[in-house]
Amino acid sequence: MSIKTTVIGTGYLGLTHAVCLADAGHDVLGLDVDDTKVAMAARGETPFFEPGLEELLRKNLEAGRLRFTTSFADAGAFGDVHFLCVGTPQAQGGQADLSYLYAAASALAPHLRKECLVVGKSTVPVGTARKVRDTVRELAPVAEGADLAWNPEFLREGRAVQDSLVPDRLVFGVTGDAAADRLRAVYAPQLAAGTPALVMDLETAELVKVSANAFLATKISFINVMAEVCEAAGADVIKLAEALGHDERIGRKFLSPGLGFGGGCLPKDIRAFGATAATLGVDSLVSLLDVVDTVNLGRRDRVTSLARQVVGGQVAGKRIAILGIAFKPDSDDIRDSPSLDIAERLAAEGASLSIHDPVAGPNAARKCPELTYARSVSEAVDGADLVLHLTEWADYRAIDPAALAEIVKQPVIIDARCALDAQMWREAGWVMHVLGRP
Ligand code: UDX
Repeated sequence: MSIKTTVIGTGYLGLTHAVCLADAGHDVLGLDVDDTKVAMAARGETPFFEPGLEELLRKNLEAGRLRFTTSFADAGAFGDVHFLCVGTPQAQGGQADLSYLYAAASALAPHLRKECLVVGKSTVPVGTARKVRDTVRELAPVAEGADLAWNPEFLREGRAVQDSLVPDRLVFGVTGDAAADRLRAVYAPQLAAGTPALVMDLETAELVKVSANAFLATKISFINVMAEVCEAAGADVIKLAEALGHDERIGRKFLSPGLGFGGGCLPKDIRAFGATAATLGVDSLVSLLDVVDTVNLGRRDRVTSLARQVVGGQVAGKRIAILGIAFKPDSDDIRDSPSLDIAERLAAEGASLSIHDPVAGPNAARKCPELTYARSVSEAVDGADLVLHLTEWADYRAIDPAALAEIVKQPVIIDARCALDAQMWREAGWVMHVLGRP
């Protein structure tokens, strides 16, 4: 059954969601207040790199199931289900900035004249959904006829399409059966394919999202603490992670040690959750998330000081090649990128940097135009005193270390993502430092 849905906000979350809803056969209207974004999407172009998304966007534009607008009046008149997918960035004190969310709800509500369901997908502090519901009901001509649900999204950048089409689970935060039934109709293809739908109250649904991210961040910081222990004890954190991961209760995923987490979600979400915990008076969560954040940021200090150490104490005047500037592979996102943070620190200390990334170079250059970017790995490492492997793109695992050794000044590399074949690099004559390994 095709449902008329609108998607408010066409960033990573919204655009992917709009495209995947259309691909499921729904009639979709995407809305953004930024007319450049709307024009790009309508032309079949995505403003960011996300494998498979542009193809699917074009396919659904051509099929006539997907259109874009900047008009809330159009959205209100069109949709039976409205998804709120706007950003909730980090505000000054660490808490979430909800201004885009309330602005979207307040702009849409006066145009809700027919019975409909408004569904929040943005990551929010617990208690927000009820306030959004009150705002919508206060301003909507249909009043009580505008129901509200919360349906958090768990997609990962670089795997956004797959995660949306085949999610691990669907979470429906609702206040009644009608909303849950309508969400079941929207997600009929996923449910038919066996994805479980978990129905709960609004508050629990809001909390599922932030606690999932808090758990993932904690898992990463845990293995990074183990990397420190391994280094101190002369043990191997990769072997340790493998052995831990075989325990089904632990699992191998999100146990990759190295430079820690970055990006537009985990860092900001754990800080916002910490701020919520403080408001709720749950001091244990404040302390836990504080440690997770501190351990995570400490990984950047660790790599920076190791870089200093291996070039003889000071990086000033040294040529350092950086491989990978995106916050993770298969993404061009540089938001809170650990790699870019390290690059800025080394540049501030006077290092002469050359940065390569398969796709994120232009984004990094826009944010940090003072840094130097290379078009190829060989251009980046030419004459380098030190190579830093900071984002584990598959391309870098395919490098021939012997050929690279010919171009650098010193064949010295720090593998901050524990992702390269250390034995192969050492056999090719490299001095290789791997975090958490002997
Ligand atoms: C994350 C959540 O996974 C997703 O469910 C949520 O919807 C948004 O936030 P994303 O930010 O796209 O997704 O990236 P993710 O794959 O989770 O990686 C986050 C960071 O953790 C990256 O910087 C990555 O390099 C790092 N990471 C991940 C590790 O350092 N070790 C790991 O084992 C896994």
